[in-house]
Amino acid sequence: MRTLVLSSSLNPASRSRRLCQRVDELLRTEHEVDTRWVDLRDIELRPCHLGKTDSMRALADLVAESDNYVFGMGVHCYTVNDGLKMVLDTCMKGCEDKFFGILCAAGGEKSYLSTMHLTQMCMNEWRMIQLPRVVYALERDLPEDGAPVPALEERLALFARDFATIGRKLLA
Ligand SMILES: Cc1cc2nc3c(=O)[nH]c(=O)nc-3n(C[C@H](O)[C@H](O)[C@H](O)COP(=O)(O)O)c2cc1C
Repeated sequence: MRTLVLSSSLNPASRSRRLCQRVDELLRTEHEVDTRWVDLRDIELRPCHLGKTDSMRALADLVAESDNYVFGMGVHCYTVNDGLKMVLDTCMKGCEDKFFGILCAAGGEKSYLSTMHLTQMCMNEWRMIQLPRVVYALERDLPEDGAPVPALEERLALFARDFATIGRKLLA
């Protein structure tokens, strides 16, 4: 199973990137998943009407070749962050009907429904199927200079376990 783990935050101190790194590690080491890691900071992004850069074309190829996806997002103004929206607008050919999961970092606990915008886009535009388990983390769950608190670590482990199990079943 080829899983693309896409960390979409451009923030150097991103918390959602740390969620993605941990799930990537768990998928590889505990569940023998063949993950492909993309940090959106390494992609030269352009909005959709300005054409794709070479790195955007490479990302689009990776999207098409992958069996399923883990998206890391930060909440910006109650919705997905800007970089992720650009990827969704430009690089998602070949993702139709595939499985995905969401790892989300936010500033406040009241924005938890923001991940539903990603759910809606993936379901309505490409008929994708979501893992019914979102990891939503606040600063207190993931301190800048420390490890995830045990409750978050547990949620990440459950996410990775269920993603690997259901992802494989959907490919069988
Ligand atoms: C432009 C902007 C808008 C934000 N809007 C929200 C918001 O609506 N709700 C919220 O809970 N946090 C909001 N935040 C806080 C981020 O979700 C938080 O910093 C999170 O850690 C971002 O993910 P990242 O660390 O992976 O970049 C906002 C941050 C920025 C920079």
